[in-house]
Amino acid sequence: METDIAAQIQEREQRHLLQNYARYPLALDRGKGSYLWDFKGKRYLDLITGIGVNALGHGHPRILKAIREQSARLIHCSNLYYHEFQGKLAERLCKMSGLDRVFFSNSGAESVEGAIKMMRAHGHRIDPLSKFEIITLDNSFHGRTCGAISVTGNPKYRKDFEPLLPGVRFVPANDIRALESAFSERTAGVIIEVIQGEGGIYPVGLPLLKKARQLCDQFDALLVFDEIQCGIGRAGVHFAYQSLEERILPDVMVTAKPIAVGLPLGAVAANERAAAAITAGMHGSTFGGGVLATRVALEVMDLIDELLPNIRARSDQFKDGLEKLKSKHGFITDVRVFGLMIGIELDRPGKQLVTDAMNAGLLINCTHDTVLRFLPPFTISEREVASALRILGKLFTKPPALPESQ
Ligand SMILES: Cc1ncc(COP(=O)(O)O)c(C=O)c1O
Repeated sequence: METDIAAQIQEREQRHLLQNYARYPLALDRGKGSYLWDFKGKRYLDLITGIGVNALGHGHPRILKAIREQSARLIHCSNLYYHEFQGKLAERLCKMSGLDRVFFSNSGAESVEGAIKMMRAHGHRIDPLSKFEIITLDNSFHGRTCGAISVTGNPKYRKDFEPLLPGVRFVPANDIRALESAFSERTAGVIIEVIQGEGGIYPVGLPLLKKARQLCDQFDALLVFDEIQCGIGRAGVHFAYQSLEERILPDVMVTAKPIAVGLPLGAVAANERAAAAITAGMHGSTFGGGVLATRVALEVMDLIDELLPNIRARSDQFKDGLEKLKSKHGFITDVRVFGLMIGIELDRPGKQLVTDAMNAGLLINCTHDTVLRFLPPFTISEREVASALRILGKLFTKPPALPESQ
């Protein structure tokens, strides 16, 4: 930790917080644009943006203005009453996604919960005794609530909480035969991240998505795309499924992270067939779709439309630069760039490089043990990308040691 203030923060947390996070020894004080500062005044180029949340960088003037004006008028009014912004934002999300109706939650996991309830209720309407199974992919991540971990294809998140939801079937990602054999009349729905995020920035291929669409139609099940990490512009299009070579529309799409750039908000968008499963009283949230969060999200939607060209241009710049670094350094085994969702696969654990990058003034993270992950702000400039690539170039000249067993 860099100062007494930071040490005090850490010490207080250690005494009073549930010790469920393994934080890096860094306490942040403020942010502006693509940069963050610690309490000592050291500056960091932020390529992780609160894990894909601060997609407009920090302190964007239009977001600050919207927060200032709206918070002075009305922050919250519950879902007992109407307010101006839920309908407008829902209309906007429907246009962007090709879907028909929206439910607002407060986070990614809560959006996934909404989608799970929708799949289960849809199955229940057709056959209340047996149509309750949900299919999900290995290596997926859908959040930390009991429902969301039940459909998360990584045992490490589930093992301490079992037994979880019954009727969840796990299928290896991109194994079409396994997907086919998991489907039956009992299937209520399938949930898929179009690009797996926590799993290491892996795209799920078009053939599996096409097959999932066809099987959902055949067995009257719901196809759910989890766009919480890869959606809202991150992949260079509004939603990652819109970048596929063929048009595939899900029945339900869940989103969250950057939608209100740090104010808690998530959304479940559904077509009429899926939305019909949820009627009055079946689902709800005290905070969901709050006045301030939805007002800010409308501003975010305007800005994302303006930023799509920059997302694509900076994506190309990263791809080009990272491919060059890969050709120089044998320990980089793959570079995966989808818009500003970027993974660098290493032949060894990446955690040490994350710490080294932090010390060098660059915030990145590591997922799936060996994948360095960047989720830069959509506002990042050409110069800032060049600066990130320069820092990485220096760091990569000293690769971390291989683990002893290798
Ligand atoms: C694809 C995906 N789904 C769901 C979640 C859970 O979102 P939250 O942490 O907002 O609950 C995440 C979070 O990383 C995610 O990446």
